[in-house]
Amino acid sequence: MVRSVLTVSDLSVSEIGAVLDLALESKRRSGPRGSELDGKTALLIFQKPSLRTRVSFELAVSNLGGRPLYLSPPEVGIGERESPEDVGGVAGRYCDLIVCRTFDQSILERLAASSKVPVINALSDWEHPCQALADVLTIREHGGTAGRCLAYVGDGNNVSRSLTIAAAGEGMHVRLASPAGYELDEASIAEATMRARESGGSVSAISDPVAAVFGADVVYTDTWTSMGQEVEAKQRLEAFAGYQVDLSLVGKAAPDAHVMHCLPAHRGEEISDEVLDGPQSIVLDQAENRLHAQQALMAWLFG
Ligand code: CP
Ligand code: NVA
Repeated sequence: MVRSVLTVSDLSVSEIGAVLDLALESKRRSGPRGSELDGKTALLIFQKPSLRTRVSFELAVSNLGGRPLYLSPPEVGIGERESPEDVGGVAGRYCDLIVCRTFDQSILERLAASSKVPVINALSDWEHPCQALADVLTIREHGGTAGRCLAYVGDGNNVSRSLTIAAAGEGMHVRLASPAGYELDEASIAEATMRARESGGSVSAISDPVAAVFGADVVYTDTWTSMGQEVEAKQRLEAFAGYQVDLSLVGKAAPDAHVMHCLPAHRGEEISDEVLDGPQSIVLDQAENRLHAQQALMAWLFG
């Protein structure tokens, strides 16, 4: 059966563990890379801009012996120029894997349903599963995951959804602080809680950022205005006032806490320069780990 990864929940707790073990092992080896995609082509269809995801996927595909083929936002027009079903059907005749960054989650579902090759979500409005794999990998390397506390401060968005579910499955205690109207949805919290039970972690929604961050081992934030929400930017800036991850907020976390951000950052909005560029920030390790996590995911899918 063709195995797609459209949400982080498409991977069980133990499958995420296996992918991350593989990522750590291949990162340590850093020699010959792998041949899981030998002679195969991965089509990268991006309907939104990208630095990290595009570059890390192109390199990861090449490192596994495959050939990446990138199509930029104006080129394909999924759902405009042609239907997701037609794109999925056609792409599956040329390529062995589709990596897609898009808007609505249903576009990914329709692509996957119509394609005979796997589809990987490279970010949708709903989830960013590859980011979450890299984030959890990064936390594993910086003190470990199980039993430690992750405070996410900001928008209950694609990044926080995938991260909460993945981190809870690793046995972390996840605390979420979002202003009213911007919280993570109940169903995602329920999915994360179910995984936390399996792994000894927990998930709690706490609207006060100071209470959420108090004593935390990791403080995470993401933009208040995601791609596609630009018309709401002003209203969001107002709603998120008091939620900036700045030196004062990070001072409430554990003294050796790490600060994470998936990037790109809106400096001076969700995070201050001092924190993003400061000694507790591990954002570049996160960015690097996109490569290792995605390479491991594809090696696992095709291995
Ligand atoms: N974090 C992330 O997905 O970055 P890009 O949008 O640059 O790919
Ligand atoms: N939440 C952000 C993440 C960017 C990597 C967005 O969707 O724009």
